[in-house]
Amino acid sequence: MTGRTETPDPEAGAAHAILAPTLHGRIALITGGSRGIGRAIGLKLARHGADIVVNYLRHRAAAEETAAELRAFGVRATTVRADVGEPDGVRHLFAAVRSAFGALDILVSNAALGVLRPAMELEPKHWQRTLDVMGRALLLCAQEAVPLMEGRAGTIVSISSLGSTRVIPHYAGPGAAKATLETLTRYLAVELAPRNVSVNAVSGGIVETEALKPFPNRAELVGRAEGSTPWGRVGRPEDIANVVYLLCQPEARWICGQTIIADGGYSLVG
Ligand SMILES: NC(=O)c1ccc[n+]([C@@H]2O[C@H](COP(=O)([O-])OP(=O)(O)OC[C@H]3O[C@@H](n4cnc5c(N)ncnc54)[C@H](OP(=O)(O)O)[C@@H]3O)[C@@H](O)[C@H]2O)c1
Repeated sequence: MTGRTETPDPEAGAAHAILAPTLHGRIALITGGSRGIGRAIGLKLARHGADIVVNYLRHRAAAEETAAELRAFGVRATTVRADVGEPDGVRHLFAAVRSAFGALDILVSNAALGVLRPAMELEPKHWQRTLDVMGRALLLCAQEAVPLMEGRAGTIVSISSLGSTRVIPHYAGPGAAKATLETLTRYLAVELAPRNVSVNAVSGGIVETEALKPFPNRAELVGRAEGSTPWGRVGRPEDIANVVYLLCQPEARWICGQTIIADGGYSLVG
């Protein structure tokens, strides 16, 4: 037995009481929380009572619309425009979190912006930007988030994709960034467990969002995933959001540094 701080088992001593899982009073920052999967994660966490910081980059109206939807659950929601691919952007984002809430319980590193090209056509600037936004952002955000989680039960979840281990056409840059993200998730998990911060990743297959639009072979990707996913459809943003929600529960804290694949079984057979 070590002297580490652990979140107590919520059911310890509860006898036969039925406990509703709740995130009431917890504060969550979702990078890229304005649209797609990030938006669905915000809605899921807000439905269970969490206050939400919605980070976005280019589409302010979408961010404000999402924040309004979140507030309809009776929680506090604020939007922050910041580029998580830039150190200054990350600093600005966390200054805003500190000033709005003064603390943080949940960080979801979800924002993504990558260049889709075959590896042989990737230029150094494409590679750098993709790795900065989809890989390094987790590191910089975690470094800022952990001090805000002091004395609380922190949770960090990063959103990955099957391209970290499988070859998807035009996905060399994002795939390499996601591999970085998953490796970093393991290192952070080990380093942060003694500080009562749990760190894991959720990886999805094809998920219907606007992020699929720039794929030159979108129709083929979606068709193949539909055809070979045991559950008979591609993913929905809610499928990923539900797993993030599970990882925010005290019962999930023994899961440490894992990448949980939520793809309807596609990667088992596809
Ligand atoms: N869709 C899929 O098939 C799929 C599958 C597996 C994993 N994923 C992963 O799931 C996550 C979300 O994907 P999605 O499909 O929901 O994407 P999406 O619909 O394109 O949304 C991307 C979000 O990230 C924000 N964003 C982009 N670059 C940013 C930056 N540099 N700084 C801050 N915010 C930034 C966008 O804000 P603005 O709109 O304001 O720019 C938007 O809110 C990504 O990590 C992605 O790799 C997606």
